[in-house]
Amino acid sequence: MARHARVFQTKGCLNCHLISGNGGRRGPDLTYIGDTLSESDIIIRIVNGGVNMPAFGNSIKPEELAQLTAFLQSRKRPMPAGLETTHR
Ligand code: HEC
Repeated sequence: MARHARVFQTKGCLNCHLISGNGGRRGPDLTYIGDTLSESDIIIRIVNGGVNMPAFGNSIKPEELAQLTAFLQSRKRPMPAGLETTHR
């Protein structure tokens, strides 16, 4: 996990994106991005960029892309307290 987070930093993602309160604010907060985007959505976004986001398709290694995607996919909101106790 720490290694995955480092790619987020070395590729400059952190300059524009917040994760758990750390990072830049030019792009959306990605703290819980795993809840809203699928694996392929994340890959497409990194490779193609966006309106105000650079495309990384030509500057990212396949293993870095895989690490970044795994890292972002794991960013999910903790289960709401109410749901954890329903089976009691
Ligand atoms: C120069 C600033 C900048 C950099 C660097 C940047 N982004 Fe972004 N990113 C944005 C902006 C701005 C958006 C919002 C949509 C748009 O403008 O296209 C965005 C959108 C996204 C989204 C979609 C968020 C959503 O809610 O749908 C993801 C995922 C994402 N970026 C991941 C990354 C990753 C991973 C990196 C590093 C490889 C990165 N970004 C680097 C600015 C940046």
